[in-house]
Amino acid sequence: MTMTSVNRRDFVKFLGGTLALVPLSSCSSLLKTNSISVKEFKDLFPNKADDLVLAPGLKYEMLASWGDKINDKETFGFNNDYTAYFPIDENRGVLWVNHEYPDPKFVSGYEVGMARTKAQMKKEMESVGGSLIEIQKDTSGKWSLVKNSKYNRRLDGFTEIPIIAPRKIEGSQTAVGTFANCAGGITPWGTVLTCEENYHDFYGEKLHDGKEKKGRFGWDAYKKRSPHHYGWVVEVNPFTGEAKKLTSIGRYAHECCTVTKAKDGTIVAFSGDDKKDEFIYKFVSSKKNSLEEGELFVGDFVNGKWLSLDINKSEVLKKNFKDQTDILIHCRKAGRLLGATKMDRPEDFEIHPKTGDVYLTLTNNYSNKRPDSLNNYHGKILKISHPNGDYLSESFESSDFVVGGVETKMSCPDNLIFDKNGNLWMTNDISGSMMNKGPYKSFKNNGLFYIPTSGPQAGEVFQIASAPIDAELTGLTFTPDEKTLFLSVQHPGEKSPSAKKLSSHWPTKDNGTPRPSVVQISGRLLDELVGNAQG
Ligand code: FEO
Ligand code: CA
Ligand code: CA
Repeated sequence: MTMTSVNRRDFVKFLGGTLALVPLSSCSSLLKTNSISVKEFKDLFPNKADDLVLAPGLKYEMLASWGDKINDKETFGFNNDYTAYFPIDENRGVLWVNHEYPDPKFVSGYEVGMARTKAQMKKEMESVGGSLIEIQKDTSGKWSLVKNSKYNRRLDGFTEIPIIAPRKIEGSQTAVGTFANCAGGITPWGTVLTCEENYHDFYGEKLHDGKEKKGRFGWDAYKKRSPHHYGWVVEVNPFTGEAKKLTSIGRYAHECCTVTKAKDGTIVAFSGDDKKDEFIYKFVSSKKNSLEEGELFVGDFVNGKWLSLDINKSEVLKKNFKDQTDILIHCRKAGRLLGATKMDRPEDFEIHPKTGDVYLTLTNNYSNKRPDSLNNYHGKILKISHPNGDYLSESFESSDFVVGGVETKMSCPDNLIFDKNGNLWMTNDISGSMMNKGPYKSFKNNGLFYIPTSGPQAGEVFQIASAPIDAELTGLTFTPDEKTLFLSVQHPGEKSPSAKKLSSHWPTKDNGTPRPSVVQISGRLLDELVGNAQG
């Protein structure tokens, strides 16, 4: 390993392997392997290329793209987001993939100024929700979609889904469609949770005071549906496609839902409301291996307390809501009445596999209507610890793990995943309208980052991939052996002025229309970073 351009004092061997992470004062942290010079690494990130640019020692191959046939009737949806893997055997499994929202100019041909036809809305409704696909690994370690597998199916804007606990919402116990499926979680009993985030874009919103707001996709014109049927956590059996909307965890812009067990086996879930100045929630189940019934709490981060949203425990809730269902539909209002702490857009949550601490991202909170000093442009990764690791405790402590900014090379953290050794893998989401501009200029395109949580490099942020133009990387999932990382490349070319004037062509080779896709990443560097490398 050449050390010529590196200050030996700053050179830190880590993980006992061949990999070293090399911080340099002039160019911040660099990641160096045996075969790659520091200069090559420095030249790679940040990056503005219209490609999925990977650190040396990593390679990617496609797994599934928007429009791929999964069987004779259904195709892989648009804007893939969260992914979750359920093994069948060592070489086969079912992958769940969220499809968050349509980009009408690509999906239906609708462009601003047109009257949206029913046929266009139908195409958009069919592009969202989720896909279940069987995938299999060949002898070289490459995964591919098994077309026509009995497990392959779509959930979309037309799928009828029961509303559980049981609880009627607006007189019905069935919702039609799931959409805005952003991130999610896996339950200890082997189901996937897919979270309805920006549901208000589709059928609008109806507030507690009765005020109504229109959705930006205007699907109401196809058929009017109650906004209260959306904004829930949806639980799906990955092997049958059977789904249910869980009302117990509340209705808000759920980014994710992260489930764990307390020491006595009680099921506990954490979720956040990804909206400026909204809240973080904890749910404590009252049933074994179930999220259908229990108590919902909202976070008071000033006093480190979980505040119960149980109508029987609060006079102010009793006074303002007619019943518990009314509270669950309008968590935002209930949280405000209890004095919950406004957060800077909570995104993903993950539980540290060794310490049990809850790590979560607060992506940003800014507005051009207020002075810069009050804006949080770059967000942070926050850590929540419960006393003696007891998730049932009504008190907790929180501390900053990484604060975003030019110095830390982190901005707008979004999705998280831990590898088995407790290293954090993070993707960021600088919005398309702000990318490569103003406070975000130096960060260039969105990316994939690696952050050790222990050892001398704890909290240092290392970029290892850069997304195509306008895209966001999401949906990180390791295979159980951590030899492959599945990753969603979402909304490449989203800022294209039209379907003919494109800002990105990824992943096409012929200047074609960009296609959101799930890729598989592997290689020596992945093995080294997760601690799988030999010798
Ligand atoms: Fe769909 Fe909060 O990201
Ligand atoms: Ca997200
Ligand atoms: Ca996001």
